Amino acid sequence: MKVLVTGGAGYIGSHTLLQLLREQHEVLVFDNFSNSSPEALRRVKQLANADFEVCEGNIQDAGRLNEAFGHFKPDAVIHFAGLKAVGESAEKPLDYYAQNVSGSIELLQAMQRHDCRRLVFSSSATVYGEAKYLPYDEHHPLQPANPYGRTKYFVEEIIRDWAAAWQDASAVVLRYFNPVGADASGRIGEDPNGIPNNLVPYIAQVAVGRLQHLGVFGADYDTRDGTGERDYIHVEDLARAHLAAIAFSSTSKGCEAINVGTGRSATVIEMVKAFEQASGRAVPYKIEPRRSGDVARSLAAVDKAERLLGWTAKLDVADMCKTTWNWQSANPNGYRQE
Ligand code: NAD
Ligand code: UFG
Repeated sequence: MKVLVTGGAGYIGSHTLLQLLREQHEVLVFDNFSNSSPEALRRVKQLANADFEVCEGNIQDAGRLNEAFGHFKPDAVIHFAGLKAVGESAEKPLDYYAQNVSGSIELLQAMQRHDCRRLVFSSSATVYGEAKYLPYDEHHPLQPANPYGRTKYFVEEIIRDWAAAWQDASAVVLRYFNPVGADASGRIGEDPNGIPNNLVPYIAQVAVGRLQHLGVFGADYDTRDGTGERDYIHVEDLARAHLAAIAFSSTSKGCEAINVGTGRSATVIEMVKAFEQASGRAVPYKIEPRRSGDVARSLAAVDKAERLLGWTAKLDVADMCKTTWNWQSANPNGYRQE
């Protein structure tokens, strides 16, 4: 199948791209490299031993999208491109609405113009907001607590309306929990710009000696050990969920939102211990005040993914830490050469 992948050079996009190529799909990556490196694409080509097309462009640029769609004529789109930093979204909300919401509308317009009616969209568990109950199932109320989360929520609604307007349209909205880990090769992985905001990349940089210690944001939550609890999902399992979603979209109609998590959770301290075990390095940490906007616990109900996609997570926290360490220790500066 011909799949156009927006944001295919990014963290989750590059891992999904690798699996698409291994499954013999034809791919065009549409990315402006605002948060990624062409080096990731070069490495995916090597790992897959397969080629694909690349179109450098912004999803807000209708002309560029038209060129890509007109030339490649995709059967389906996987839409990863967008901005994703929760804190930054509160400082620059208009950038987030422009890139994530307007950019997604441009993409849907291009799909419409070129008769492409199958879409898989990267949403986030952050659309649920404060838990009314756990695990979050897909019927849980949607009350995102920050502009980033609201962009995901609005795009979900736009996609739902788009799918309802076209009888032959099929959209799968994947709500990711906490993606971590790297490809087993250690050649591709998460490469955040500057100091990482997220737990596992931060731990990895402490273990490799780039940062001195981890700040644990709060140890007084109502959780097993007082630290925040999350449902971490290995990026390889997550990538596999996209291939299952693409397959599902060939027979389904309308729009389905589906959680992608493991149904199991780990606390911050449990992740630190698992990482120490996997890396053989110490990860010193200090308890700090809570980070504003954080919830105590997050956990996915995973039965819908199993029922509709035939997908379940296979990899555990030890695999997540081991592969993150492989990637980080072999590439201490990520894709940069300094
Ligand atoms: P990433 O930043 O590594 O990848 C995003 C890619 O999109 C990058 O290659 C970037 O250059 C590109 N991009 C950004 N804006 C663009 C634009 N306007 N036009 C063209 N390309 C653009 O992020 P990721 O972690 O791989 O996340 C992928 C998607 O999954 C995002 O939509 C993100 O919001 C969503 N998501 C991520 C997480 C997570 O924790 N990583 C969790 C839930 C949802
Ligand atoms: N944490 C620390 N220290 C750090 C970083 C994080 O203690 O330096 C803690 C947080 O307080 C939280 C846990 O580690 O308890 C996980 O935090 P992350 O920042 O890794 O992940 P979040 O659950 O806050 O958010 C992530 C993404 C969001 C996404 C959400 C759900 O950043 O974009 O998962 O998918 F929406």
